[in-house]
Amino acid sequence: MRPPLDANVSFGHADVLDPAGPAAREIASLGWLMFVTAGLVFVLVVAFLFVALRRARQNETRLPDAPLAVPQRGRRVVIWAGAIVPAVILTVVFGFTVRSLVALAGPPERGEAITVQVIGHQFWWEMRYLTPGNPEVAAVTANEMLLPVGERVRVELTSDDVIHSFWIPSLHGKMDTIPNQLNRFWIQADRLGLYQGPCAEFCGAQHANMYVRLRAVPLAEFEAWMDAQRQSALPASTESAVRGREIFTQRGCANCHSIRGVSARSNLGPDLTHLASRETLGAGMMPNNRGNLSGWILNAQGVKRGSLMPPFTFNGRELDDLLNYLEGLE
Ligand code: CUA
Repeated sequence: MRPPLDANVSFGHADVLDPAGPAAREIASLGWLMFVTAGLVFVLVVAFLFVALRRARQNETRLPDAPLAVPQRGRRVVIWAGAIVPAVILTVVFGFTVRSLVALAGPPERGEAITVQVIGHQFWWEMRYLTPGNPEVAAVTANEMLLPVGERVRVELTSDDVIHSFWIPSLHGKMDTIPNQLNRFWIQADRLGLYQGPCAEFCGAQHANMYVRLRAVPLAEFEAWMDAQRQSALPASTESAVRGREIFTQRGCANCHSIRGVSARSNLGPDLTHLASRETLGAGMMPNNRGNLSGWILNAQGVKRGSLMPPFTFNGRELDDLLNYLEGLE
């Protein structure tokens, strides 16, 4: 099911049959090979079944207790069609599967490629970016990521709570995020555009509302985005926004969220340093606009029941100030 996004925020491309990168292409070809092979086998089995049924009808004159003669030829058919041919087919398919596994293995080394650490949370994704040659985390974002088109990117996956599965159908196969374990693989998008993927391992009440949105952009655009994401939060620019920042740091928000450059450093919830640069809220559930953001702040449980965001009570002016501050976090 697709979340109700609006005209300004489209749902990303998500189609295993229309791969947009080498990993997904490899998986799609293997899938087609298996589908066609299994389809041919199915047609053959049905054909044999029809022949057998016709023969049985012709033999109906046979007395019920007369022994059933299995001719020599029939035995040969059983040995070939029941054992030898399946063994050959399965061996060939196994060979292609191993070939695909090898092609999909071997992510580039950390330090040599852009590395994205993906951390699964109930019910959102955290992404930490590391750039080549720098062991420090350069930027942290949530649920939305950019990648340079045509580049192989290293992905390291883990989870903060239960098992989730990271999957962008047009780009790569599923990879679980498991607590206390680091899984590694790589992704590459060969086509510019917006891709989307659901969490692919049941993880609780809001498993169905846990989307990743990935935009493949030209390298220059990616670098400009990285430079912006690397920065600390923009300062509050109006009096109202300054009051909003005070509310954020003193009325509970900062207990779970961090905004770099402000005294808010908890990472229980998504990093909000560049909240206003994101297109969606609630891990791809709804467009990031003032109305949805205020609904989320006041009563996230009414929107995404079971998420860890508690309800907050603010009067109209406080809410206005807080929204003015958050909307300035480009
Ligand atoms: Cu996270 Cu399912």
